[in-house]
Amino acid sequence: MKFSAFGERFINDTGIKDLVDDLGKYAGLEGTIMLGGGNPALIPEVNEIWRNRMAEILKNGDQLQKMLGLYGTSIGSIKFFDALAELLSREYGWPVTGKNIAVINGSQTSCFLLYNMLSGRMPDGASGKILLPLMPEYIGYADQSIDPESFVSFRPGINDYAPNMFKYQVDFDRINMNGVNAITASRPTNPTGNVLTDDEVSRLSELAAEHEIPLILDNAYGLPFPGIIFEDVKPVWNENIVLSMSLSKIGLPATRTGIIVANEKMIEALSAMSAVVSLAPSGVGQEMVLPMLEDGSLIDISRDIVMPYYRAKSRQTIKYIKESFGSLDYSIHKSEGAIFLWLWFKDLGSGSVNLYNRLKKRGVIIVPGEYFFFGLPEEDETWEHRHQCIRVNYSQDFSDVKRGLDIIAEEAAKG
Ligand SMILES: Cc1ncc(COP(=O)(O)O)c(C=O)c1O
Repeated sequence: MKFSAFGERFINDTGIKDLVDDLGKYAGLEGTIMLGGGNPALIPEVNEIWRNRMAEILKNGDQLQKMLGLYGTSIGSIKFFDALAELLSREYGWPVTGKNIAVINGSQTSCFLLYNMLSGRMPDGASGKILLPLMPEYIGYADQSIDPESFVSFRPGINDYAPNMFKYQVDFDRINMNGVNAITASRPTNPTGNVLTDDEVSRLSELAAEHEIPLILDNAYGLPFPGIIFEDVKPVWNENIVLSMSLSKIGLPATRTGIIVANEKMIEALSAMSAVVSLAPSGVGQEMVLPMLEDGSLIDISRDIVMPYYRAKSRQTIKYIKESFGSLDYSIHKSEGAIFLWLWFKDLGSGSVNLYNRLKKRGVIIVPGEYFFFGLPEEDETWEHRHQCIRVNYSQDFSDVKRGLDIIAEEAAKG
């Protein structure tokens, strides 16, 4: 069998594939401590809400048949668009209508469509780039562009925030807009738990507007749902911002529901692309949450159950780290949101992939940090920090997290 250049590009080993393979191979395996992967926690109160909602759909006349048996438009159901637009304008005063919304099969696919629509070979033969203003960034973007050279990034500023705690910040002096067709960032950031400050977002939005290009903000963990943000920051949207949202981290990852809020021209473009690649998105997630958008309870669930759940987990995990790591020279990225902690071992001479392999042998799965640094200029090949960090998903059972951290401490101490 011969693969095309497109095929080769996606078949070759990618960081995201290793991660997904590990998840599949080790999840649920007796004795394995699963601190890798991006699975959200199964929160009992939230599970109960989904169970009840599904029971309601099953009982309610032909609602199940309609949910499962009909295609919607190529970007979802009009009832869903209107309910979400109404909620966003009620909650934040954003001037959005149903025409500003599209549903795509998972926000991973939304990003694939957006990045390839905006980067790669342009009609005039130029090479369009996507700028990532804050490294490290979500591993799942790294291999998404059909043109492997599409992503450009640069080193962040690193601020010591408190003893054994730091925070990355956008180093605006390093930005080079040459050939850039879009700026993108996750907020909160997977893997670090960083939340771009309001000032950083407003400067990035101004920069994008000045160059007449979109700012794509990936809100998979953000406001209003799932709302896993522990800082007091403002959600923003304007005609130049493409906001990517998802139902995954509120507990519905298997419904594959990604949502885009953008100007009408962008929504029309996505609608055309989505028709070609998937005909129509799944309607299950849209139907599950529709009444909760209408009465606003999706926001209540996020604020009153989901966010406090993760905040408590994050705080407890940080306490465990302090107990387990003792005299190691480590630093934790300030936990501002998302479901991960990002740990930096300053004396990790062997590198994070080596540490990952040693941990795997001892039954602890984490994600090595170097996958999350991409698009950097060649001169940063020697930047040691890239090899000294790991990502830990703290949403698992407390006793597993604690045992896992003890083993991480022992292995990290070996260098
Ligand atoms: C930052 C970020 N964006 C997008 C996604 C993709 O989410 P989904 O395709 O389930 O909506 C993830 C998944 O972990 C993520 O962490």
